[in-house]
Parts: sequence; C-alpha cells; structure tokens
Amino acid sequence: METGERFVIEGLAGKKTLRGTIAVHGAKNSALKAMAAAVLFKNSLTLSNIPDIEDVRHMADLLEHLSISIARGAAGSMTIDTRFVSKTDLTADISKRLRASIVLAGPLLARLGHVSFPHPGGCVIGARPIDMFLEGFKKMGAAVRVKEKTYVVRAPKRGLKGAALFFRQQSVTATETFMMAGVLARGTTILKNAAMEPEIAHLALFLNRSGARIIGAGTSTIIVKGSALLSAPRGGYAIVPDRLEAGSFLILGALAARDLLITHCVPEHVASLIETLSYAGVSISVTGNTIRVRAPKSAPRAVDVKTHEYPGFPTDLQAPMTVFLTQANGESMVFETIFEGRLNYVEELNRMGADIRTMDPHRVIVRGKTPLRGRELESPDLRAGLAFVIAAAIASGRSVIHTVYNIDRGYEKVEERLRNIGVKISRMA
Ligand code: EPU
Repeated sequence: METGERFVIEGLAGKKTLRGTIAVHGAKNSALKAMAAAVLFKNSLTLSNIPDIEDVRHMADLLEHLSISIARGAAGSMTIDTRFVSKTDLTADISKRLRASIVLAGPLLARLGHVSFPHPGGCVIGARPIDMFLEGFKKMGAAVRVKEKTYVVRAPKRGLKGAALFFRQQSVTATETFMMAGVLARGTTILKNAAMEPEIAHLALFLNRSGARIIGAGTSTIIVKGSALLSAPRGGYAIVPDRLEAGSFLILGALAARDLLITHCVPEHVASLIETLSYAGVSISVTGNTIRVRAPKSAPRAVDVKTHEYPGFPTDLQAPMTVFLTQANGESMVFETIFEGRLNYVEELNRMGADIRTMDPHRVIVRGKTPLRGRELESPDLRAGLAFVIAAAIASGRSVIHTVYNIDRGYEKVEERLRNIGVKISRMA
C-alpha cells in the first residue's frame, strides 16, 4: 500500500566515515520464486530467511487468494500449505504490482491445468513483455486466450507435456516459470539460453532435494524430467542472501566507508562488481561470507560498465554504480543492455550536481568527479530508489526521498541498517 512515507537524509558531504557491520537479508528474487514453488508440493513447506518486504507480502496475498494457507513464524520463516489450492485466477490488482506474479503461472498450470492472470506489473524499467511465456505454454500443449485483458491458459486434459524451449532473450522469470512447469509435466522439458542467475541454481537444488529431477540449472541449458508432486524435505529451504543488497552496500562502502564489513552474503555472487570496483581503486577483501570494504583516500578512476546477464554486471546494480561513477575521476560509459527504461533516474542525479550525458535510452556518459548536493527526490523504481539513498548519503546537505514505498518493496528496514553504520537517515510519515 502507498504510505506516502519519505526518507530524510543528512549527507556526509564526501566524508568517509561509515563503519561497522551490515548484514544482508534473504533475496527478494529468490523468496518470491520459492513461495511460488510451494504450489509444486503435496505437503506444507517451510521457508526461512524470507525478507520482510512489500513484494513478499503481495506474493503472500496472491497465494492466500488461491486458498493457499500461509503461516508466518519467527525470524523470517514462513510455512505454506498448498494442499487445498483450488483457485487458479491470479488477482489482478496484486499481479499488476508484481512482476514475479507471472512465475506462479507455471506451477499452477502444471498442477491444476488452468491459470488466468493480467499482464504482470513490477518496476517500470522497460516494456517487459511476456511473449516468451505465452509461446512456452503453447509449446507445452496449453491453449492461450486473451479475454478482457486477462490471459487464460488451459493445459491439455492429460496435463502439460514436456517441450524444448529456446528463449530468444535470457529471462530469469521465464527460466524459473518453465523449470517449475517442467517438474509436473509429462516427459522431458529442455530450456536453452536459460538465465544463469544464482537464484535459479538454488531453487533447482532445493526442488531436487524435494524429488524433482532438474539438471543444469545455473548453466544456459536446463533439462527437467517430469515427476510427481514434491515432498518438502526436513529443514525446508533457506532463501539465499540478496546479492543486490550486498552489492548496494558494497558500493556505498566504496564511496563512504572508513571500514565496513558486509556479512551474511555470498561474495562470489557479486564477483563482477568486486572486480569492477577493485579496478577503479577500491580496497575490498573477502573472507568466507563477508566482504570488507574501505573507500579509497583519493578519487577512484573511471571505469566503463556494461550490464549483462549473470555472471556479468547486474542491471539491478547499474543505478548505484552510476552514483559511484559520479565520484570517479574521468569519463565512464554506462551501457544498460537489458532494459530500455532503466536510466531514467539520471536527470535527478544531474539535479544533485552530477554530470551525466544521455547518448540514447541504453547509454550514458558520466563525467566525474562531481560533488553532489542534497535534494528532494522521487524514487522511480526499487533499485534506482536505493541508488538515490546512496547519492543522498554522500551528498552535502539534506535530501528528502519520496515514494519510499518503492524501496520497501525490496529492502527490509534498510534505514535501520544504514543508520547503524553511520548514515544519518530517518523515516518520516
Ligand atoms: N523478455 C522478452 N519476452 C518475454 C520476457 C522477457 O523479450 O516474454 C526480455 C525483456 O524484454 C528483457 C529480458 O527478456 O530484455 C529480461 O526481462 P524480464 O522482464 O523477463 O526480466 P525478469 O527475468 O522478469 C528478473 C528480475 C529483475 C531483474 C532481471 C534481470 C524478478 C522478479 N525480476 O526479471 O529484478 O532486473 O531479472 O536480472 O526476478 C528487481 O528486482 O528490481 C528487478 C527488476
């Protein structure tokens, strides 16, 4: 729900004083898919390390509307019981807020033979079509109709059949949807040009522990052998740490930390960022599941960034990285290759004092180093919203960030964790 809350941030004016420890929470983009995966189970499933964020609450609402029961436990645990799942219509108002809602279509169609949903929402960062989903369902034998802006998908009487799908574009949600659909399909499903993000490999590992037969998740070819409803293993499933949260804290540390320890993360999942920041001159060291970062004394050097599917530089860290580049000496090109609407925050950074020139919807040139000044900002989407928090934290003077709702969608009480390491941030109603 839109709350109208805002963040008020007193910037550090370039001082490098952040210190202490900041813990990374469970990954939004893993939690949402694990919740959808519960539909594949014959008994109740317990998930842990679920972040307490808006998108998770929306997904829970969506499931409850399908007669799925959800019980939240202590410390980020959630038990989902899909034994009585009967409905197959995804509620329009929730689905329109959440791109991940589409991932539910795969398991629902595979289990109940029917699903209907509106065009899914999520961050406004580009066209975000769903053609590959509709084509994939058809290849698995389903009939797809569009009725009053709702997609109605029906599986054949005997259920979905395995199919060979080649994704024209790598898509995390499409890969997860068909990996899960394949679990309950007849025969073998082969996914080529699959996305390789760690959340996909983790989901597959868990499904396999529960009885699924998935080979190759984490590579570009995934083979799924159809099986029966899964049974939840003892110990359930712990959501993998959020690499985007870890990456954002790392960028903040690279800009403003005297000595910052980022804990509960998987450093390997942010290898491309660590490599890029190290090249720019940031001192980073990795031990086990922690990353230690110190901002360099003098300005880092400019570095070109091109977003790429995993393990390349993540599109979701492109906005915070652009903030970093405003503080680097020289010209950096930022090339956003995945979404055409994901650079639309740069004008706001220019208003803070940055020098960023837009070449086309996919490319900007950042010229640094430019001091930033605090401003009133509107967070346009989740990741750019956090980038504004980082920009405001290093700027001089006060910033007010509106539409905090966008940031709450993906980051749990981020202001509390940032305050603990020295960012002067408060939430105002
Ligand atoms: N695409 C098509 N046709 C389709 C589906 C996708 O052409 O039917 C193309 C898109 O145009 C784009 C690419 O495939 O070029 C990937 O787009 P998509 O919208 O499918 O991305 P996604 O897999 O749904 C996930 C994350 C995003 C993250 C991207 C890239 C979830 C719920 N979302 O999106 O996360 O940016 O992968 O890693 O997992 C976020 O969390 O803020 C977020 C936007």
